[in-house]
Amino acid sequence: MDKLVVKGGARLTGRVQISGSKNSALPILAATLLTPETCVIRNVPDLSDIRFMIEIMQRLGAKVTFENGVVTTSAEKIISEVPYDLVRKMRASICFLGPIIARCGQATFSEPGGCSIGDRPIDLHLKGLAELGAPSHNEGGNIYIPKANLVGKEIFLGGKSGSTVLGTDNIMMAATRAKGLTIIESAACEPEVRDLADFLNKMGAKIVGHGTRRLEIEGVDALHGVEHTVIPDRIEAGTFMVSALITQGDVFLAGAEANHLVNVIDRMKSCGAQITSDAKGIQVSAPRKLSSIDLVTETYPGFPTDMQAQLCALMTVTPGISAITEKIYPSRFMHLSELRRMGARVELEGATAILHGVEYLSGAPVMASDLRASAALVLAGLVARGTTEVNRVYHIDRGYEHIDQKLRALGADIERVR
Ligand code: EPU
Repeated sequence: MDKLVVKGGARLTGRVQISGSKNSALPILAATLLTPETCVIRNVPDLSDIRFMIEIMQRLGAKVTFENGVVTTSAEKIISEVPYDLVRKMRASICFLGPIIARCGQATFSEPGGCSIGDRPIDLHLKGLAELGAPSHNEGGNIYIPKANLVGKEIFLGGKSGSTVLGTDNIMMAATRAKGLTIIESAACEPEVRDLADFLNKMGAKIVGHGTRRLEIEGVDALHGVEHTVIPDRIEAGTFMVSALITQGDVFLAGAEANHLVNVIDRMKSCGAQITSDAKGIQVSAPRKLSSIDLVTETYPGFPTDMQAQLCALMTVTPGISAITEKIYPSRFMHLSELRRMGARVELEGATAILHGVEYLSGAPVMASDLRASAALVLAGLVARGTTEVNRVYHIDRGYEHIDQKLRALGADIERVR
């Protein structure tokens, strides 16, 4: 198994190219199954999650190639069954449910199991599909949807933590082929949901309101093949912003979209960061001294849960006391005990991490528990005295394209050891 070995202390400077968004590309790839015609998707990041998504599409019967960031798909015929050995490896495979139902009129799907970032039920996906005319039952760990008769309806999709991203994606995709008008209230409005809606509209869908909490989808008889370019990855961009701040650096995030990062930029400016942006990207410069901040994760346009671990890493070495509250996944704090191994002073009170900034962290062997936790440990390693070994690095390869090469090009001392 690979590990990343980081020697802390280098100041990061220069330019880094931000890749296409993982969380946009995954549902867009699933959506290509809505048409038998050829689709070409550009700016797809080379990540293990993407390769796994492609493997599932091939198992479902689609022809798929992936070269130089371009995925070409053609799904003349697909099957309607997604077994456990595929679902258990990647939760995002749930976003095949909507396209399979729309295309095949039935589905058998293994219920996704536990997840290291906390409880991740799919009740809202199933409620929305049932209201649209695709009721399901669970038997032996599988979700069976024996017959779907999709008819547009007004559906309230809010849950205990607000809206659901992949749930909105699933209902929106199924509704493109329902008879009549579907209205989704309390829809997710993340940029990735908007990107999927833009893709579906190019295919011939009739969706309005994307980017807001209310979606209106007029069903159509067929969708056709198109070309599309995936939006830049706002979480990768946010992670590189933290890499600049934690190392007292100065980094240009080429291709990053500031409009997608309004809340993250606002919080980082509160830490003292100097941030400017234009059509080409975002420039981030660290202040001489960072200030502590409080933040709460929320659905978009609030502060993203996928940036919480990275901000925890930053606050471990920021003078003062910071409170970071997780509202989307209240137990997504596995990184804290590993940061403590590096000398961080942190307590967990319910779903709030209280971080007391220390003068320095010390390098240590640490264990990644999930994608964003591993990014946080690499960030901590960049500033720690001595050497940090981040083990189980396959987590980071699920969501960051060539992160070690990109950090090295900015001046970091980081090696991948096989
Ligand atoms: N929820 C329910 N019922 C449902 C679905 C969700 O109660 O049926 C709850 C969840 O438990 C959670 C909240 O709603 O408390 C939000 O979950 P959501 O459904 O929005 O998450 P997701 O769509 O499964 C996507 C991203 C995650 C990201 C979340 C939140 C993809 C592939 N995944 O997951 O990304 O954390 O939205 O923004 O888009 C990551 O990239 O590291 C990652 C985990």
